[in-house]
Amino acid sequence: MSMFGVLIYAAALLTSEGLLVQGPAQPLVAQLGGSIILPCSVETPLPMEELEVEWKRTDEEALVHLFQNGEDRPEAQHQSYRDRAHFFSEQIFKGNFSILLENITVADTGIYRCVVFSYQNVGEISVTIQHVERVVVTAEDQIVFALVGEDVVLNCMVDSHIPPQRIDEVSWKKVDKKPDIVLVLLFQNGSIFPESSHKRYRDRAEFFRQEIPKGNFSLRLKNVQTADKGEYMCEVHTENSVSSATVEIGRLGMSALHIITLMLCFISLLLTFVLSIPVTIYISKKGRPRIKYAFNSFFYCITIVN
Ligand SMILES: *[C@@H]1O[C@H](CO)[C@@H](O)[C@H](O)[C@H]1NC(C)=O
Ligand SMILES: *[C@@H]1O[C@H](CO)[C@@H](O)[C@H](O)[C@H]1NC(C)=O
Ligand SMILES: *[C@@H]1O[C@H](CO)[C@@H](O)[C@H](O)[C@H]1NC(C)=O
Ligand SMILES: *[C@@H]1O[C@H](CO)[C@@H](O)[C@H](O)[C@H]1NC(C)=O
Repeated sequence: MSMFGVLIYAAALLTSEGLLVQGPAQPLVAQLGGSIILPCSVETPLPMEELEVEWKRTDEEALVHLFQNGEDRPEAQHQSYRDRAHFFSEQIFKGNFSILLENITVADTGIYRCVVFSYQNVGEISVTIQHVERVVVTAEDQIVFALVGEDVVLNCMVDSHIPPQRIDEVSWKKVDKKPDIVLVLLFQNGSIFPESSHKRYRDRAEFFRQEIPKGNFSLRLKNVQTADKGEYMCEVHTENSVSSATVEIGRLGMSALHIITLMLCFISLLLTFVLSIPVTIYISKKGRPRIKYAFNSFFYCITIVN
């Protein structure tokens, strides 16, 4: 040990105040799926020999990361932090023992301790991850009903602490016929892309432009058809996450026009059938195809209505 080293060592023993370790001034907020630096450092670099840095969760005594004998000790890490917590190896020599915690989950909320041992000295700080922000997507109604030919509104609210410009994408998709997922409407990088809608929805689907800054990504679907019945998903992508909510268009009621059309179908069936009776009687054997024709036209009628 050099003379200088002895002096420092002696001074540390004398003051017995331990190491002065610095951490963040405030609790931290992380983002779901993102990464965060948990700061921990000392003013002046510490000699590598005899240096030990231990990052722990206070609430569950799990070892987040360990630096010992001049190197990382990943094998000592608790399983839930393996490959997720890293020291900045270039920084350790400078007295910076911060760690990078990646792939944040809600379970990472909590208090962490950074304990630094150097010779006989110990110092520690605690770092709190107070909150893990995530995007919450809600649909006001689980199911909506409409009449054929009407417009319908599918609600989707994006509640996040993340500013709207950090929402990379919001897409409405029809998802009930998996794996055939149909794109209904797309919002990406701050713009609406109506031309990317599936042809079945082109010119029929729209956002409420003035509502988007409020996180209201409700969809208006115009001129609803029976084929529109089913499940729709409002999917929100941010840099680190994908969240979604679903809304169903339930059984479609029939408008007056449809009821009238259907009634006409019945009447035409009845007429064809009744008229075919005398034909069947007087021109024998030629009735059968006509009855078949009557039924065919009836079913055709029903298909059109639906
Ligand atoms: C972190 O997330 C990325 C992307 O989702 C994934 O590829 C990677 O395997 C994850 N790493 C860990 C350690 O979970
Ligand atoms: C420690 O290193 C990290 C990663 O390079 C850096 O973001 C942070 O500012 C450093 N802290 C100090 C106190 O230098
Ligand atoms: C939106 O931005 C991303 C990343 O910047 C890019 O990959 C993507 O092509 C953009 N989409 C459109 C439709 O411009
Ligand atoms: C979103 O906007 C639509 C259209 O203006 C409106 O009907 C709906 O109530 C709004 N949703 C919320 C939660 O404000």
